[in-house]
Amino acid sequence: MYNQVLNDMKPSASMKAGLSEQQKVMTNLAVGIPDLVAPREISDLVIQAAEAQRYNYVPSRGTKKALQNLKHLLFETEDALVPDRNLLLVSGAKYGIYLTLKTVCNAGDTVVLMQPYWLSYPEIVRSLGLNFVSWHPRVDAGGHLHFDFADFEALVKQHNVRALILNNPNNPSGKVFSKEFATQLAAMLERAGGWLLIDEVYRDLVFDSGSEKEFEVTGNNIVRVGSLSKSLSIPGLRLGYIAGPDKMIEYADIFNQHIQTCINSLSCYVMENLERDVFRSFAATCSHTYGARFALIASAFKGSDLTVLHSDATFYSLVNFGKHFADGQAACDFLAEKLDIIAVPGLPYGSDFKDYVRICLTLPTPTLAKVFDNILKHTPL
Ligand SMILES: Cc1ncc(COP(=O)(O)O)c(C=O)c1O
Repeated sequence: MYNQVLNDMKPSASMKAGLSEQQKVMTNLAVGIPDLVAPREISDLVIQAAEAQRYNYVPSRGTKKALQNLKHLLFETEDALVPDRNLLLVSGAKYGIYLTLKTVCNAGDTVVLMQPYWLSYPEIVRSLGLNFVSWHPRVDAGGHLHFDFADFEALVKQHNVRALILNNPNNPSGKVFSKEFATQLAAMLERAGGWLLIDEVYRDLVFDSGSEKEFEVTGNNIVRVGSLSKSLSIPGLRLGYIAGPDKMIEYADIFNQHIQTCINSLSCYVMENLERDVFRSFAATCSHTYGARFALIASAFKGSDLTVLHSDATFYSLVNFGKHFADGQAACDFLAEKLDIIAVPGLPYGSDFKDYVRICLTLPTPTLAKVFDNILKHTPL
């Protein structure tokens, strides 16, 4: 006998497509692993920690020094976030999302996911015995997504909604939501006794830098989850956080103490000692590079039938192949068989996006230019 929720769970489509050994020889546009090499300082800190034999458990929320430095790195101007009350270090944002839902929901509750949603949300939700419903956007002619609050209100009326996940900036579309949008959502959820969970893993990868303040949203029913995986090119260090109200953090920490104990001690040392300037300047270089790569794919496919959704952040782009193929899966099969390219079909990101393919912009820019040319040249009409 196994946990029966496993009957409904699926393996991660992006990990399956992008992380298996045989895929190494193909052009991998499938998995969200940043290609820009992490700053040298990270390796220096890991070596220092190892040489100092930093192999003990650390406190379950992370050391005081690490929490204070996290505040300094990401939440400097946010007085509402006090390091030893409102911050919890976790082994990556994925686990942070799991822990947050485990803390604020009861089995049978409903979570609202906004399409296109990150493909792990439905499976995390299912693993906790929760249900989800989709909030569908409208896609305009310029490839912008629009969400209607009236549709969200209707969902709240029909379902026992306990939480909504706002992925800002969004994987896979690259959409950035305004502070006003998040604040309004939080107010609507509060009236319904629900939580706003903001997944801000890509907040430092907005192309137009200087957007930091837009992410400063706090409140009694708001939890923010993030990590340094993407903005510092260190996904394997599993350095993530939860930022939320005192009681929420206290309860999440109780689960954490019995499930994960604490973050990796070497990663904790990195968080204690990482310099703000190193982080900020590396993240700025990354967002600049990914922004240029998005401009490249947008201009390469402009005027063709492959429509690219508008993006302001992240290293993904969502491309509609519906005019050429039965759906995104057929397009991915063609790309793999004919062009040795692997990418992820849109369906796991939500039914509205089944004709799309998610393309990761995590290869050197000249390589991407050749790949896009190749796709255009060979895509059958
Ligand atoms: C939207 C989103 N949230 C969370 C994560 C997980 O990040 P982490 O490596 O911090 O667990 C990812 C990773 O791809 C992601 O795309």
